[in-house]
Amino acid sequence: MPRKIIIDTDPGQDDAVAILLALASPEELDVIGIVAVAGNVGLHHNANNARKIVELAGRRNIPVYAGCARPMRRALVTAEHVHGDTGLNGPDLPEPTIPLQPQHGVDYLIETLMNAEAGSITLCTLGPLTNIAMALVKEPRIAERIAEIVMMGGAYFEVGNITPAAEFNIFVDPEAADVVLRCGAPITMLPLDVTHQIQSTPERLRAILELGNEAGKAVHAMLTFSESFDLQKYGWSGAPLHDPTVIAYLLKPELFEGRHCNVTIETASELTMGMSVADYWHVTGKVRNATFMRNGDADGFFALLLERLARLP
Ligand code: RIB
Ligand code: CA
Repeated sequence: MPRKIIIDTDPGQDDAVAILLALASPEELDVIGIVAVAGNVGLHHNANNARKIVELAGRRNIPVYAGCARPMRRALVTAEHVHGDTGLNGPDLPEPTIPLQPQHGVDYLIETLMNAEAGSITLCTLGPLTNIAMALVKEPRIAERIAEIVMMGGAYFEVGNITPAAEFNIFVDPEAADVVLRCGAPITMLPLDVTHQIQSTPERLRAILELGNEAGKAVHAMLTFSESFDLQKYGWSGAPLHDPTVIAYLLKPELFEGRHCNVTIETASELTMGMSVADYWHVTGKVRNATFMRNGDADGFFALLLERLARLP
C-alpha cells in the first residue's frame, strides 16, 4: 500500500526534482496534494511552478493549493539570487493549464488530516514551515494525526547557508519551525549536514541529461541554472541537492543515518536567528523531538534519482 503524502513546497528547482521523484514512485508514494508556501520566491510563482511540475510529470490530477504568502512574524526573505526571478529558471516550461485549488492550503491541510484515518498521512516539507505551523495553530488536534513530518531544513555540524548560523527554510520562518518542532508529531530532518554531501557533480548532471526524456532535460536545465550560485560560494565540484533527500528518505531510508535527539530553534537572538540547535550528544534532558540525519549515501541517492526520473515522460 503506497504511503499517502502531502508535499509542502516553495519550488525552487530542487523542490521540483523532489516532486518529480515522488511522482515517479507511485508504488511507494501516493501524492494526495501539493501546497505552495512563500519562500524561495513569492507564493504566486511557487504555486505556478508547482502546477508546471505536476504537468511536466504528466500527473494533471494532483491538486495544487496555495498556502501562506508570508512568514508568521518576520518579513519574507526570498532567494531569487539562487533560483531566478520565477523560482524555476532554467527550463522553458509551458504555463500551467490545471487550475489552482480554491481552498487555502492551510485549510486543506487541516481538513485532510482531520478527515483521514489518524496516522495515515505523512507531511513532506521542502520550504519554510509556515503552512504547517499555521495549521497546527488553527487546529492543534492535527498534531496527533500526522504520521510523520519529513522536512528538508536545519543545520548543525554543517552550520548555515543563509546566515552563518541558519539554514534557509528555518531562517525564513523560525517561529513556524519552533511551533512544528514542539508539536509532538514524529519528525525526521534532512539538514544541510546531509544535503551538502549530495552534490550534483557534472558527471551526475550529464547522466540525468542522457536519460533523454523530457523530465531529464528539464531537471538538467533546472540544476545547471540553480547550481551557479552555490558552486561559486562553496567551490565544490557540484552544488548540494537539498529537497529530493526528503523523498529519497521515504523511498530508501537506509541511504541516511542520524540520531533521535532534541532539536530546538533559535527565535530570539538576531545573531543566530533560525539556528537549529541539535542536542546530538544528548547533553540536555530535553525531549528528543526529531531524528536529525547527519550522513547520506550520495551514490545511492543519485542511482535512485536516475532510475526514477527515467520512468517519467
Ligand atoms: O536551504 C535549502 C532549502 O532552501 C531548499 O529547500 C531550497 O529549495 C530552499 O528552499
Ligand atoms: Ca525548497
